[in-house]
Amino acid sequence: MQRWFGHPVFAWAGLRPVQAQHTEAEHNALSKYARGKRNVVELGVAEGASAVALREAMDDRGTLHLIDPYHLSRLPMLNFLRRAARKAVNGFDGAKVVWHEQFSYQAAADWKGPIDFLFLDGDHQENAVEQDWNQWSPFLAKDAVVVFHDARVFPDGWTEKDNGPVRFVDRKFRNNRESPWSILDEVDSLVFVARR
Ligand SMILES: C[S@@+](CC[C@H](N)C(=O)[O-])C[C@H]1O[C@@H](n2cnc3c(N)ncnc32)[C@H](O)[C@@H]1O
Repeated sequence: MQRWFGHPVFAWAGLRPVQAQHTEAEHNALSKYARGKRNVVELGVAEGASAVALREAMDDRGTLHLIDPYHLSRLPMLNFLRRAARKAVNGFDGAKVVWHEQFSYQAAADWKGPIDFLFLDGDHQENAVEQDWNQWSPFLAKDAVVVFHDARVFPDGWTEKDNGPVRFVDRKFRNNRESPWSILDEVDSLVFVARR
């Protein structure tokens, strides 16, 4: 019954809130670091719970770019996951929202302009996280903050040390003193990085 109720059609119909795929502590940390940022990009939106947190926190004169192909719907014409996200994120006033119904690597290919806050929560395979980093990091502004979800093992959490984002963050930032980027903060499965 609970699994059935988890279908995004119920969120779209307003019969349940959108499903957050992050903890309350992660939600608060996303809000803290996105606060006042103007050019915010999220890779992997799902029902839009984290996108709502970002839109609420960021500068309302800014732009929130939401990138998700919404490719897993069994009924692509209806696609209630996409509808639930749009309803949740567009349901209040705030920063301009631009939806990119694309894979992150497709959106990156045509990208222009600086990014102040980048949230990576799309394809979690290690090579895909690395590709996202390689394609998106050239657009990061000097004081940009980047955050990876499911990127660290924490007490009573769901992540494991061989998960793609954990392996990438460990290799690229945690165990790499040569990197011009360093870990700024860590909250549950989130790892925030910024330039040294
Ligand atoms: C873990 S969910 C995102 C959860 C969301 N950030 C939240 O906290 O509420 C992952 C999403 O990434 C999307 N996705 C998968 N591969 C992707 C890619 N290459 N680029 C962008 N989005 C992708 C999926 O369609 C799915 O909706």
